[in-house]
Amino acid sequence: MAAFWGGFDGRRGMIYHLAIDRDYRRQGIGKRLMQEFELRLRAKGCLRYYLLVTKDNGEAVDYYESIGCKVTNLHVLGKSL
Ligand SMILES: CC(C)(COP(=O)(O)OP(=O)(O)OC[C@H]1O[C@@H](n2cnc3c(N)ncnc32)[C@H](O)[C@@H]1OP(=O)(O)O)[C@@H](O)C(=O)NCCC(=O)NCCS
Repeated sequence: MAAFWGGFDGRRGMIYHLAIDRDYRRQGIGKRLMQEFELRLRAKGCLRYYLLVTKDNGEAVDYYESIGCKVTNLHVLGKSL
């Protein structure tokens, strides 16, 4: 029904994966998972978390912006292996 993979490396939080089964979207599940994630990060002293969204995933951007996330000024670099 839902998959969530996030963590805290001692400096910053990171969300690696978040997906809600299509039949269960727009019911507030994603938002509640993020609220719990933020609570746990705060309890560990984490000040900021990051996540990656592909540029063609406008729905996910809308979702993350609705819970207060903003596009950062970071460059994202990667290398295919
Ligand atoms: C993005 C995703 C995780 C959102 O989960 P969700 O449980 O449906 O989200 P919620 O019901 O908690 O929505 C909270 C708010 O986000 C916004 N939102 C969520 N889905 C949206 C969409 N498809 N389009 C626009 N806004 C959206 C809305 O403001 C929504 O509040 P509302 O329903 O009262 O209008 C889900 O659509 C998903 O699994 N998508 C596929 C995987 C993916 O793209 N993951 C993110 C990339 S890592």
